[in-house]
Amino acid sequence: MAPDAAGLAEAAAERFAGIVERAVARTGRATVALAGGSTPKGLYTLLAAEPYRSRLPWRQTHVFWGDERCVGPEHAESNYRMAAEILLRHVPIPPEQIHRMRGEDPEPDRAAADYGRLLSAVFQPRAGGLPRLDLVLLGMGADGHTASLFPGSPALREVTRPVVAAYIERLRGYRLTLTLPVLNEAHAIMFLVAGRDKARALRLVLEAAPPRDPLPARLVSPHDGTVTWLADADAACLLERPRAGTPS
Ligand code: 6PG
Repeated sequence: MAPDAAGLAEAAAERFAGIVERAVARTGRATVALAGGSTPKGLYTLLAAEPYRSRLPWRQTHVFWGDERCVGPEHAESNYRMAAEILLRHVPIPPEQIHRMRGEDPEPDRAAADYGRLLSAVFQPRAGGLPRLDLVLLGMGADGHTASLFPGSPALREVTRPVVAAYIERLRGYRLTLTLPVLNEAHAIMFLVAGRDKARALRLVLEAAPPRDPLPARLVSPHDGTVTWLADADAACLLERPRAGTPS
């Protein structure tokens, strides 16, 4: 648990750096899916500045997104735009290694299928296999959603496609999102959660007895990977015990 948003960003930056450095040492590249929303902004700001700007192997790093709103890359709601403005324009990642979801496509299902083909081209998984990302950054909403996997969404039941277009009733719009099979194929998942409004969902995800209908964030459990929860004191205020894997 981190005391506040600044401490959360610092802990996340150090973990991000370690994972990326180990991935490049292991395979010659690092593959990271970025999260949208507001919580990761502090992390992205730190990564765009020294020492991380010079320290990290950006030229060997590929960036993806865990989800995207169905808007263009210049739209204020775009997760791509947020990451590009705060991080990607400030570090030497080759443009061809920035793999944007095409939220502007008027056919979200086509955009999802295109991104699935892009993932296959970059990862070249064995036949029938799934892309195995080195790191997936995730946030969590107050309702326990993560990426654009919302409670009750049919996308939660996807077992083969790596990316789907999900219609979100509450938002009255589509989102593009990685699916649970891809998230649970990852080497490492890092959740960043901040704010008192997340406290109830965080306790339900981390400490409640297994419910009949688990919150989406609780369904993220890589079969051969790690999950780290980084939460600030406000988000963690209802937790009864420190979590293994969640820095105290
Ligand atoms: C998005 C994210 C979404 C986000 C949560 C938390 O596109 O908005 O993928 O899952 O991580 O809604 O958002 P905040 O960080 O803004 O609280």
